[in-house]
Amino acid sequence: MLRGKNILLGITGGIAAYKICDLIRQYKKNGANVKVIATPNALNFMTKLTLQNLSQNEVYVQEFDVREWKPEHISLADEADVFVIAPATANTIGKIAQGIADNLLTSVACAFSKKMIVAPAMNCNMWNNHAVQENLKVLQARGVEILQPESGFLACGYVGKGRLCSIDKIFRATVECLSFQTILKGKKVVITSGGTIEDIDPVRYISNYSSGKMGFALANAAKSMGAEVVLITTKDHDAPYKIIKVKSALDMQNAVEVEFADSNIIIMAAAVADYRVREYALQKMKKSEQDSITLELVKNPDILKGLCEKKKSQIIVGFCAESENLIQNAQEKIAKKGCDYLVANDISRKDIGFGADENEVVILDKNGGSYRIEKSPKSVIARKILEYING
Ligand code: PMT
Repeated sequence: MLRGKNILLGITGGIAAYKICDLIRQYKKNGANVKVIATPNALNFMTKLTLQNLSQNEVYVQEFDVREWKPEHISLADEADVFVIAPATANTIGKIAQGIADNLLTSVACAFSKKMIVAPAMNCNMWNNHAVQENLKVLQARGVEILQPESGFLACGYVGKGRLCSIDKIFRATVECLSFQTILKGKKVVITSGGTIEDIDPVRYISNYSSGKMGFALANAAKSMGAEVVLITTKDHDAPYKIIKVKSALDMQNAVEVEFADSNIIIMAAAVADYRVREYALQKMKKSEQDSITLELVKNPDILKGLCEKKKSQIIVGFCAESENLIQNAQEKIAKKGCDYLVANDISRKDIGFGADENEVVILDKNGGSYRIEKSPKSVIARKILEYING
């Protein structure tokens, strides 16, 4: 199941560290190459020799214990397919969430750009601490998978939530994550994001509140699933895939049409202006003596509809932003646009949709089916959308 996979396992200083021997055995039995980083505190609960024997690899503890030209925190991060931290203490979770890199494990986490799985274990009062919960939310929003601890009798004598989840659960999450990394391998996924900007004159424009976050989350998720990603966006974004910066709806249409031809999936998460001014004023428009002025607007092309009309084998996904009658309007829109899927979200709510870190969506398909994804970070919504449309 794990043949050829490189698993980096981080162990931090909690009593649950002793359970990790079984996890290493399961990884090894299934063919993985396992490298262990233990914090110095983890070695209060486990011996380096045990971890070394089980993983059949050297165990890494100290930074600056340099054995090769490339610093350890970079080479360990580069070669791993997944980084699993179990058990993860409140201290390590906090440091990773805040980008603090003061030991080998947290430095590797800082340099790690692939999928990370974190299995927390701690006293129940620590688990309920507001700062710990906030740090977990930060990690989750960045796409880190958090394996919730279980409730029960804790080693510190308390009964409550904080016990490391089962080793089997960590193992299954690792297997799922590693197979997930190839779901979209060989596929080109084009994603649009942000609100288009329609200039009125050199200083004024028509736009909307789209931050680009939903599109960025989709592009990141597609990349982590192995796709070749092209992001066409009106907002600045830095990521390891092709990014085409555009401004107006017409710019976006040009870029989309070039990338569409050889794509497999296209997702239009951008909020495209339906209208632009008929005539752009070359000089700043002067304040007039009149109390009101009229700007004449002309219709922008419907990019999504145009793609659906020339579609070959691509899967075409639109988004639908509604402030009322979400499902009814979305049903009418999917029929009008002719796309395969339409992801409907309620933009009248402040906690989801425009600018928010979370969203809640209903995916409609062209055959009348629907799938609701409850409120979650946009990273989670993005992953679920891609899994759903990919079948
Ligand atoms: O960017 P965020 O702050 O994260 O916010 C995310 C979002 C709310 C912008 C996103 O989730 C969303 O709903 N995007 C679609 C916004 C929109 O334009 O919806 P619409 O219902 O007006 O358009 C329907 C579909 O047609 C969309 O896929 C849109 O990209 C497309 N369209 C619209 C007009 C047009 N002229 N051409 C188009 O292709």
